[in-house]
Amino acid sequence: MKNELLAIKEKAMAALAACRDGETLESLRVAYLGKKGELTSILKKMGGLSPEERPAMGQLANEVKVAIEGKISALKEEISKRQLYSRLEKEKIDITLDGKSRPIGKKHPLNTVLDEVENIFIGMGYKIASGPEVEYDYYNFEALNIPKDHPARDTQDTFYINDKVLLRTQTSPVQIRVMEKEKPPIRIIAPGRVYRSDEVDATHSPLFHQIEGLVVDKGITMSDLKGTLEVFIKRLYGEDSVVRFRPHHFPFTEPSAEVDVRCFACEGKGCRLCKNEGWIELLGCGMVHPKVLANCGIDPEVYSGFAFGLGLERMVMRRYNIDDLRLLYENDVRFLDQF
Ligand code: DAH
Repeated sequence: MKNELLAIKEKAMAALAACRDGETLESLRVAYLGKKGELTSILKKMGGLSPEERPAMGQLANEVKVAIEGKISALKEEISKRQLYSRLEKEKIDITLDGKSRPIGKKHPLNTVLDEVENIFIGMGYKIASGPEVEYDYYNFEALNIPKDHPARDTQDTFYINDKVLLRTQTSPVQIRVMEKEKPPIRIIAPGRVYRSDEVDATHSPLFHQIEGLVVDKGITMSDLKGTLEVFIKRLYGEDSVVRFRPHHFPFTEPSAEVDVRCFACEGKGCRLCKNEGWIELLGCGMVHPKVLANCGIDPEVYSGFAFGLGLERMVMRRYNIDDLRLLYENDVRFLDQF
C-alpha cells in the first residue's frame, strides 16, 4: 500500500505540474480526490489493514492527500492570477491613440436671440410665464376684447380644433392666464410658439414664435411703456439705436402703437433691408385695455398696465441677415453651423 500511495503522489504531482488551466485542474482534482478518485479508493481499503500497519499508512495517506490538496489550491490561485493579468493586459487603454471626437452642437439662432431677450427682461425684474399652445377661443380672442365678429380675427387665420378650442394665434392669451391667477404687481414676458394657417413662403410659416410682455401695477403709464421698450431695443441692437412709436390699433390695448427702429443698415436713408422705408417694424404694444383688465378681475380704476408682442423670427432674420424664414426650420447643419 505504501508504494501505491507514493506512486499516486508522484503521478498526481507530475500531472499537476503540467496543468495550465482551471478545467484540467478540476478534472485532476476529481481524478485523485473525488469520491471515486484514486486516493479515495485506496483510503477505502484501509479497513483491511492490520491494526499495526494502520497508523503508519493512515499518516502517509494523509500526507499524500494534504500534498495533493496543497498543490491544487496553489495552482488554482496561480491560474486565476494569470487570467486576471491577461485580462488587464487586453483591457489596457492605449493613451497614445487619438480619441474619437464628437461634434459639439450649437444653440439654434432662434434660441440665441430668445435667450438674449429673456436676459434683458429678467435683468429688469421680469419673470418668464407660459401658457398652452392648444388654447380656448376665450383666452385667444374673447378675453382680449376680440369678440366673434371682430375683423381682427380675419387677419389671424386660425387653426380651429372645435368652436371653442384652437391653436393659439398669438402669445397674448398668456396675459389673460397670468392676470387671472396673479395679483399686481405683474411683470412677465411669455415666449412661445403660435400658429396661423398661412401658406409657407420666405416670410410666412404656419408655426412661428412670439414674445409677449405684460406689466400691471398702480400708476403704470405710457411713459413706462416707452422707456422700457427703448431700453430693451438699445440693449438688443446697440445704444445708438433710434426708436420710433407709431399710432396703431390693437383690440386689447388702448392706446396702441407699433414700434420701429431706424434701419441700422442705411441709417434711415432707405435700402433693401428696410425696403426703402428707413425704418424697420419691431413690435406692437399699448396700454392694456380697461376691459381686458376687468375681464381678469383686476380693477381698471386702481391698476393700469402696458403690453407688447414681438415676433422672434423677424428679429432673428434681421440680426443675422437671413432672407428666408424656412431656413430656420429645415435643421440643415450646413446652415445652422454659420451662427
Ligand atoms: N398679439 C399681437 C399680434 O399677434 C401682438 C401684440 C400687439 C401683442 C400689441 C401685444 C400688444 O401684447 O400689446 O399681432
